Amino acid sequence: MMRILPLTLPAVLSRLRSAARFSVFALALCILLLAPCASHALENGLARTPPMGWNTWNRFGCKDVNESVVRAAADAMVSSGMKAAGYQYIVIDDCWQTGRDAAGNILADPVKYPSGIQALADYVHSRGLKFGIYTDAGVKTCAGRPGSLGHEYQDAAQYARWGVDFVKEDWCNTVPGQSSEASYTVMRNALAATGRPIVFSICEWGSTHPWLWAGPIGNMWRATSDIQDCWDCKRPWGGNGFLQIIDQMDPIYSYAGPGHWNDPDMLEVGNGGMTDAEYRAHFSLWSLFSAPLMAGNDMAHMTAATREILLNKEVIAVDQDPMGIQGHRVQKDGPLEVWSKQLGDGGRAVVLLNRGDQTAAITANWTAIGYPATLAAEVRDLWLHQDLARHTGSYTAQVPAHAVVMVKILP
Ligand code: GLA
Repeated sequence: MMRILPLTLPAVLSRLRSAARFSVFALALCILLLAPCASHALENGLARTPPMGWNTWNRFGCKDVNESVVRAAADAMVSSGMKAAGYQYIVIDDCWQTGRDAAGNILADPVKYPSGIQALADYVHSRGLKFGIYTDAGVKTCAGRPGSLGHEYQDAAQYARWGVDFVKEDWCNTVPGQSSEASYTVMRNALAATGRPIVFSICEWGSTHPWLWAGPIGNMWRATSDIQDCWDCKRPWGGNGFLQIIDQMDPIYSYAGPGHWNDPDMLEVGNGGMTDAEYRAHFSLWSLFSAPLMAGNDMAHMTAATREILLNKEVIAVDQDPMGIQGHRVQKDGPLEVWSKQLGDGGRAVVLLNRGDQTAAITANWTAIGYPATLAAEVRDLWLHQDLARHTGSYTAQVPAHAVVMVKILP
């Protein structure tokens, strides 16, 4: 039993002194412990939920991109309802640059962008959207246009004058020995020096494990090499299909969070290489990953099925969950998998994925998603937009080949 002793004045003073010494020690300890956490994420206040937008590259590449395409995309983002659903950034990828003037200022391609970048940024802003641009940390971009190496502050200042809101920086044509962490830090500092809020998207394809160092540098970093518009395909030069990408995203889930996201690359939904069921799987997993949702299709000419996928507000809400936890795989039985993401309201977004070639039953067990087996929970199908019966312990669905069932489970 604890005894309470009467204290004399010197004893009280001595205790106060030791308490003060302890407080100083505790404060120092807290600062030491908190410092790495505080610096874990880029402190530019942006991308608190994963950025949503559209990028020219997947559909228009270098050959077919021009300012008319970009203006039409901005118009379509508004008229299709994508803006209302949360898509915001219109990003021009590679091939907008041709060279530099005598003072080293970057020049836009006069054939593809005859009105100039300022006019295009103004147009995008006039539609109530944000404008993004692409560069490269090396001497040249991947398509051979001028890169930003040695021009980082000059380029960042130019972007800010144009009103750029998002910068993607690629990793082609670097010089021998160039450090990715140091290079992206230079561009981060150059963007910060402009004083303009600019989302910084790092694109070194996961080649130097950016999840380990890019948190304080970028708002998002590509975790894999370029996405291919196919379910299961590995290209000799490293391109990845849907299945290859999700397998690479699984082990790095703990590195993502508000302001700093793992990026599995831009969406292929609507580009024609996969079935609609496969595209639903693609969109479901990207949302479960808290991935940036950058559409990569021709928004001005979407099928009804593509529009329905990109505009599924219940799935988008999973992606944009404010807690910002990246989901991961919790069960695997051959080609049958269960993926789960913890949500801010205590619920779970759960994807039942059938990688195989035949319809199969897949069961999500409550214990695998962090609930007791005795718990009764609401289950809602996020693609059928239907409340299902309450379930206790598990939920089973028939999942067609190359497809998902996605549900929200809420105790
Ligand atoms: C790299 C990137 C792509 C795209 C192209 C442009 O391959 O990973 O996303 O930006 O360059 O050339």
